[in-house]
Amino acid sequence: MPDPHAHDALSKTDLLARKNEEALLGGGQARIDAQHKKGKLTARERLDLLLDEGSFEEIGKFVMHRARDFGLDQEHYLGDGVVTGYGTVHGRLVYVFSQDFTVFGGSLSETHAEKIVKIMDLALKNGAPVIGLNDSGGARIQEGVVSLGGYADIFYKNTLASGVVPQLSAIMGPCAGGAVYSPAITDFILMVEDTSYMFVTGPNVVKTVTHENVTSEELGGASTHSTKSGVTHFTAANEVVCIQQLKQLLSYLPQNCEETAPAMPYTAGDESRPALDTIIPDNANQPYDIREVIDGLVDAGSFMEVHQNFAENIVVGFARLAGRSLGIVGNQPAVLAGVLDINASTKAARFVRFCDSFNIPLLVLEDVPGFLPGTDQEWRGIITNGAKLLYAFCEATVPRITVITRKAYGGAYDVMNSKHIGADLNFAWPTAEIAVMGAKGAAEIIFKREIAAANDPAAKLQEKVADYQEKFATPYRAAHRGFVDEVILPSQTRQKLIRAFKMLENKVATLPRKKHGNIPL
Ligand code: HXC
Repeated sequence: MPDPHAHDALSKTDLLARKNEEALLGGGQARIDAQHKKGKLTARERLDLLLDEGSFEEIGKFVMHRARDFGLDQEHYLGDGVVTGYGTVHGRLVYVFSQDFTVFGGSLSETHAEKIVKIMDLALKNGAPVIGLNDSGGARIQEGVVSLGGYADIFYKNTLASGVVPQLSAIMGPCAGGAVYSPAITDFILMVEDTSYMFVTGPNVVKTVTHENVTSEELGGASTHSTKSGVTHFTAANEVVCIQQLKQLLSYLPQNCEETAPAMPYTAGDESRPALDTIIPDNANQPYDIREVIDGLVDAGSFMEVHQNFAENIVVGFARLAGRSLGIVGNQPAVLAGVLDINASTKAARFVRFCDSFNIPLLVLEDVPGFLPGTDQEWRGIITNGAKLLYAFCEATVPRITVITRKAYGGAYDVMNSKHIGADLNFAWPTAEIAVMGAKGAAEIIFKREIAAANDPAAKLQEKVADYQEKFATPYRAAHRGFVDEVILPSQTRQKLIRAFKMLENKVATLPRKKHGNIPL
């Protein structure tokens, strides 16, 4: 490695040129080749893909670590394992850091951390998103506690920035130990399949402590975190796709909590979507795919699903309606009948809070038979976890509209953005059933004695079920009360929503003054 201090024979401009060249090489060509061999791009190649051409301005290119132990006083690389700066994505300012695995495995030193914190400070002061491209062996082992301190500085800054500017984390290599907690505090995590993983302790520690044999991929690969833990919101087949996802995601978001998301050009076309009129099956117990409803309502091709493979009984994601950004939460009747369970509740709650933090209006599509019963759910805390979703909706001040497509039963009726908890408008389709519980269960309880005393109890039960169904399994009781503002046809819904969200565009709602609420965590 060239000695960065040996420059006596060079002119001042030559010296600068040489340092610039050296910085671009990171840990050297051999390590760059090794990175490519693993199917990974370098830190700078990733930034080239992410940022608009020629927009990147680097900050801290010549920073070097200050460590002296374990031979580090003899080994320096300009930039110290992370490329930081700012640039634009589709013309909008973003701050970036991209960890360079070719320099000490992208491990985090004191100075590496300082560089990240510096651009986060700039992002906070100037109100623009922070994007982290993570590829790091964790704390720089030779530095000891100063490296741990560096992580803590980043966690602290992540937390201060939470809800102020969007923070996105792409995981493009190893992410172990403390390195997972910064991404976890950020708003969205994206992982690349087969070349990235995240875990608090690796397979060796797991084997020692729990005697489990597990590979890195099984323990913390993209597939694990997208299906089992829900740690990652998106997965991508490769780094190029991952960076495209980052850019698409950014397009739905505002720069900071004081702004609204950019509107896309939109010209009104054929707004009636008759296909939706036949989407609800005649049999109320038959499933259908809520994504078809979403596609029938939003601007063509605009839906970007978040957490696609986790807690699939609820669907969340971003879309556009008449060019405006929208957060969508929909029960999914095609999976577990759309029931609310622990994972569905926490998934949707986090999404609702993100949208509310960044002024993205919420559309809720409701078809929910209730909360999932059973010891597994109760013992793992469906009460506390279900309450997260309830709390998240209750405190959201963005424009909020619900469309009840079919079932709105029990507590789930209240939770799923009912008017009682602050929704601005609540529409129902004629197929809506809004009641405390299903007709059979209800009849069995309230007419128990009458049914038992009847000559033909089965016939009596049928009669009572039909009676309850006619009275309550419709949208009209709720509409008479004004809990439903209008009963509308599926084919009218898109147009109604466009008008309603336009009407709510300047909504101002405030919460009581407080330090912060205490969401049931
Ligand atoms: C210093 C590191 C390093 C680290 C890797 N390197 N991790 N240097 N500190 N944490 C260096 C290697 O010495 C090597 O240097 C180069 O990076 C590439 O590493 P390899 O092992 O050759 O690469 P690979 O086989 O791909 O394996 C990558 C890896 C492995 C899985 C990341 O290196 C590894 O397990 N590293 C240690 C991970 C770890 O335990 N980190 C600490 C976590 S604890 P050369 O010179 O050969 O190129 C933590 C606490 C923070 O982070 C807590 C905060 C709350």
